[in-house]
Amino acid sequence: MGTLLLFLSTSFLFHVLVSGVTYTESISPNFTASSFKFIDNAGAFLFSHNGTFKVAIFNPGVQKAHYYLCVMHAVSGTVIWSANRDGPISSSGKMILTAIGITIAEQDGNEKWSTPPLRSSVHALQLTEMGNLVLLDQLNHSLWESFQYPTDTIVMGQHLLEDTILSSAVSDDDLSTGDYKLTVSDSDVMLQWYGQTYWKLSMDARAYRNSNYINEYMEINGTGLFLFGRNGSAVVTQVTLPPSKFRIAQLDASGQFMISSFLGTDRKQEFVGPPDGCRIPFVCGRIGLCTGTTYNGPICSCPQGFLGGSQNSSGCVPSDGFSLPLACNSAKNVTQLNSSDVSYLRLGYGMSYFSIDFSEPIEYGVNLSVCQDVCTADCSCLGIYYQNSSGSCYAFENELGSIIASTTDDDDHLGYIKTLGGNDSPSNNGSTNQRQDFPVFALVLLPFTGFFIIVVFSFLWWRKWSFLKIKETKLGHANSISSGDLDAFYIPGLPQRFDYEELEVATDNFKTKIGSGGFGVVYKGTLPDKSAVAVKKITNLGVQGKKDFCTEIAVIGNIHHVNLVKLRGFCAQGRQRLLVYEYMNRGSLDRTLFGSGPVLEWQERFEIALGTARGLAYLHSGCEQKIIHCDVKPENILLHDCFRAKISDFGLSKLLGPEQSSLFTTMRGTRGYLAPEWLTNSAISEKTDVYSFGMVLLELVSGRKNCSMDASNSGCGQSISSSGSGFVYFPLFALEMHEQGNYLELADPRLEGRVTSEEMERLVRVALCCVQEEPLLRPTMVSVVGMLESSTPLGQPRIESLNFLRFYGRRFTEASMIGEENEQSDIILYPEATSTTNGSHACFSYISSQQISGPR
Ligand SMILES: *[C@@H]1O[C@H](CO)[C@@H](O)[C@H](O)[C@H]1NC(C)=O
Ligand SMILES: *[C@@H]1O[C@H](CO)[C@@H](O)[C@H](O)[C@H]1NC(C)=O
Ligand SMILES: *[C@@H]1O[C@H](CO)[C@@H](O)[C@H](O)[C@H]1NC(C)=O
Ligand SMILES: *[C@@H]1O[C@H](CO)[C@@H](O)[C@H](O)[C@H]1NC(C)=O
Ligand SMILES: *[C@@H]1O[C@H](CO)[C@@H](O)[C@H](O)[C@H]1NC(C)=O
Ligand SMILES: *[C@@H]1O[C@H](CO)[C@@H](O)[C@H](O)[C@H]1NC(C)=O
Ligand SMILES: *[C@@H]1O[C@H](CO)[C@@H](O)[C@H](O)[C@H]1NC(C)=O
Ligand SMILES: *[C@@H]1O[C@H](CO)[C@@H](O)[C@H](O)[C@H]1NC(C)=O
Ligand SMILES: *[C@@H]1O[C@H](CO)[C@@H](O)[C@H](O)[C@H]1NC(C)=O
Ligand SMILES: *[C@@H]1O[C@H](CO)[C@@H](O)[C@H](O)[C@H]1NC(C)=O
Ligand SMILES: *[C@@H]1O[C@H](CO)[C@@H](O)[C@H](O)[C@H]1NC(C)=O
Repeated sequence: MGTLLLFLSTSFLFHVLVSGVTYTESISPNFTASSFKFIDNAGAFLFSHNGTFKVAIFNPGVQKAHYYLCVMHAVSGTVIWSANRDGPISSSGKMILTAIGITIAEQDGNEKWSTPPLRSSVHALQLTEMGNLVLLDQLNHSLWESFQYPTDTIVMGQHLLEDTILSSAVSDDDLSTGDYKLTVSDSDVMLQWYGQTYWKLSMDARAYRNSNYINEYMEINGTGLFLFGRNGSAVVTQVTLPPSKFRIAQLDASGQFMISSFLGTDRKQEFVGPPDGCRIPFVCGRIGLCTGTTYNGPICSCPQGFLGGSQNSSGCVPSDGFSLPLACNSAKNVTQLNSSDVSYLRLGYGMSYFSIDFSEPIEYGVNLSVCQDVCTADCSCLGIYYQNSSGSCYAFENELGSIIASTTDDDDHLGYIKTLGGNDSPSNNGSTNQRQDFPVFALVLLPFTGFFIIVVFSFLWWRKWSFLKIKETKLGHANSISSGDLDAFYIPGLPQRFDYEELEVATDNFKTKIGSGGFGVVYKGTLPDKSAVAVKKITNLGVQGKKDFCTEIAVIGNIHHVNLVKLRGFCAQGRQRLLVYEYMNRGSLDRTLFGSGPVLEWQERFEIALGTARGLAYLHSGCEQKIIHCDVKPENILLHDCFRAKISDFGLSKLLGPEQSSLFTTMRGTRGYLAPEWLTNSAISEKTDVYSFGMVLLELVSGRKNCSMDASNSGCGQSISSSGSGFVYFPLFALEMHEQGNYLELADPRLEGRVTSEEMERLVRVALCCVQEEPLLRPTMVSVVGMLESSTPLGQPRIESLNFLRFYGRRFTEASMIGEENEQSDIILYPEATSTTNGSHACFSYISSQQISGPR
């Protein structure tokens, strides 16, 4: 047997050496390969067990004879890994496997690449079925593997560890290391170019964050992209993709991170970041203006004041004799230059830069000339981006990329490109050239200006003061908090700041009221860029320091998730506090669900449930700070196109100071959605939101308010209500139907049976799990999402923790009889007993919702 094997393997090897066309998954030293030798097999000499991958000496281009040792996907010919990406060999070059490792060299012996020193001698080189090229020792232990040195691609099952990077290739023909990098950081996955970030996974709408562990590695598998936490078991972030047998994730030569799946030779793109091609840093070359992308690629031009052909990959240069400075690490340092040589060329309005969304300002609350001075003194700064309203100053660092033409950006941001020389240019178009003559001016005048400055400043101060005075009288607010505080502080990440007058204009003097909630009235408005917004005028806050207000606004403004309503800006002027949100064209869920319009179909309801759950899960565990919503109810779930649910009003509870916490407890929470712990002095936690969410789920199922006294539209009330009065407390009905396993009874009769019984059961069971009395028993929102998506097993609600619904139900029917001619909504149920362990509530009392909800 042994001899037979030996015979077989030697003849195998012999065969390979002679013809090079046989499948082999392992080769031994001393072995040499060249592209010539295996020409019949397109250079391939090593295959994985069932042929998914191959190793070849391969030339990806046609122009140049650049050969690389590559691991490739056999069917599609996609290069997965290359050894000598920065040292290509000619067609006569070769790969040599010896006992000390792999060497790639030209025919004349000029070495281009080799494996690092190994701890023992090589026994075999193997290509695994996963696509990993491994050097094995005598005992089949791995000495070196290609998976530890990824180039621009990872395959299914390969771990990309935290702090390792993928580097793009220069082009599809030239595999050498390009300028785009993908890094797995401890909390995210980022794309960078010369150290400047241009995309983050966490900001992508399709990425879903499950937990807050520190990242350990990234992996793709048959169901998506996963980031795993340090202890290896917890998924931190995931992007769910359609099931696929084979997919790869690659940082493309173009600078985009792409996940593609393969079916035979067909390659299908499943995920691309950044999705907008104009956000790739060098898409149009240096200072090239990207105005959009088409099927054929980006549409490039030069900004006003710059010249260069659109086809010119080196980009655009200033048109009037200025030159662009070189960055720090190049031979001519800007620091050595006389700063009076430096000037700034202004880019027009509506121009953005890829790194702005991902970098912190280098200075806050400075004027433009200070911003420019800081840039002038720093050789890595090649341009600035200045926000006039907040005084934020951003730097374009290390290397100048392309400019993005943005249609949505307001006129508040302006970019300036640092330039050198070109003094006294005769054909200076003043509008595009902003000479930095301030320092000269200041130096000359300094000895004489002490008095002058005092005069000017007092004048300016007086002007500002009287202006504010006028403004406040106009607004009708007499005792404003210190008027000098306007623009006195700057907080990173603050969204756009609006003037009260701007919002007055935008809302046509607060004409169209579209809602009112716990914090104030909401008006519809239109910004100058024609985008529709919802402006919330906050009334119930009392006086609060503007800085504290802005700190919270910065937190809320930085929470981005597809299922959360985006805060676009704010106004804090005098005593006015307004929040500007994106406008949701389909209004709030309560109107659609309980209204008399077209009935919400079951699939739409299910999507809304899932979206809301995702939004809440993000608030609870996806952001840096845990945020408890405290007022989850259909009024706060807004709908956009395609019934995408977005949660509004999150984070606002934080606007209340500690001294207002009593107001907080009386104000927040809405009857019917209020968890028992609100009333029993227990701690409020994120599980409080879970309870409210459960109540909302039940309303989605039934299509009517849980507390509705109107049984006429239920069609089933009479049959179940124990008192026979016809008033139904729906959560109790749901519990009873759950006990009987009769879920379809619960469906909104208006759906006329157009429901999926399996999804119906899932929704009801999740809802009952959520409304359990004991907060610890309620699932987290993350597992609610899992259960709704069917990726985690459905929980089993504990009846003993739901018995309180029976008490609520009984009270409800009694209350409804007492309160029949009263306005229905004024009664809620209030368990006084604080001991909830055995579910025995000694006594109940009524409390008016007015007392709970407080003034609204
Ligand atoms: C490989 O070649 C080296 C020197 O050329 C020799 O010392 C060694 O024994 C060879 N190994 C095998 C397995 O043939
Ligand atoms: C490839 O081979 C492995 C064994 O090495 C096997 O488990 C796997 O199912 C095969 N895959 C395919 C797609 O045939
Ligand atoms: C190493 O693996 C090969 C095939 O995978 C096997 O034939 C050989 O017996 C293994 N050697 C040892 C020492 O385990
Ligand atoms: C992919 O990984 C995730 C996370 O470990 C896992 O839940 C999922 O089942 C995996 N998919 C496949 C097809 O193995
Ligand atoms: C690892 O993660 C699991 C799952 O989330 C968790 O239960 C466990 O406590 C973690 N272990 C450590 C050491 O952090
Ligand atoms: C691109 O522009 C640079 C600078 O203006 C110029 O030197 C170069 O010749 C141009 N190249 C092409 C191909 O037009
Ligand atoms: C350029 O400046 C940097 C720091 O500003 C310095 O480290 C570097 O040595 C300088 N290079 C030259 C060529 O002067
Ligand atoms: C900068 O230029 C001005 C005039 O162009 C000159 O007076 C000054 O000495 C220069 N400073 C340095 C540091 O070279
Ligand atoms: C900019 O601010 C600096 C420091 O705050 C001040 O000295 C300078 O006069 C300001 N310049 C302009 C043009 O307002
Ligand atoms: C910047 O804001 C000031 C007032 O805050 C205004 O006078 C000036 O015109 C603005 N500049 C630009 C370029 O918008
Ligand atoms: C100055 O502006 C005019 C009109 O905007 C334009 O025709 C001209 O080419 C510009 N000159 C330079 C040098 O940019």
